[in-house]
Amino acid sequence: MAKRDIPYTDYFTEVVKTMTGTGLLLVSKDGNDRPNAMTIGWGTIGAIWGKPMWVILVRPSRYTYQCIEKTGDFTINVPPPGLKEAVTFCGTKSGRDYDKFSTCKLTAVPGRAVNAPIIGECVVNYECRVVHHNDVLPSELVGAIQNSAYKDGDYHRVYFGEILEAYADEDAGRKLK
Ligand SMILES: Cc1cc2nc3c(=O)[nH]c(=O)nc-3n(C[C@H](O)[C@H](O)[C@H](O)COP(=O)(O)O)c2cc1C
Repeated sequence: MAKRDIPYTDYFTEVVKTMTGTGLLLVSKDGNDRPNAMTIGWGTIGAIWGKPMWVILVRPSRYTYQCIEKTGDFTINVPPPGLKEAVTFCGTKSGRDYDKFSTCKLTAVPGRAVNAPIIGECVVNYECRVVHHNDVLPSELVGAIQNSAYKDGDYHRVYFGEILEAYADEDAGRKLK
């Protein structure tokens, strides 16, 4: 499927709906240049420092955390409904134990601008480079969220990824309905 460049703000409603539904797929590469996909349900897209930005949260326990720390690059991929099984797999199994691309039969297409591939089967793709990170601080977080999200600690690292490329399938709108 041919991809066309899009303004990063396109498909905002569909992307947030997918993220808070099944989840999106974040891809980064490990130290052996092997791509790994992880499901994310939390994040935001917008503009910071005059740059288009994806802000994502990754717990230090994730294999993905090591990957992003190493390369500083990641892609965000919006799956069509047909990839639900793969999204569940990538959200429950670790790249430490599985090659998720081969298990889920996902196609890694090299990024245009970053050292991480996109997922060919996903209908909207963003290529991002980390320009800043910070950590969720227990002392600065309301108790209700501490209790609901951090019973076991493992406080997220918050990555700010400048969006260097954004593109989508010609018929992304139809596929994400
Ligand atoms: C719907 C869904 C959303 C998730 N969102 C996040 C998230 O935003 N951040 C995070 O650190 N983990 C999130 N996870 C958990 C990771 O996807 C999961 O732990 C995964 O197995 C980590 O893979 P890795 O070890 O290969 O990085 C989510 C899981 C699911 C099922």
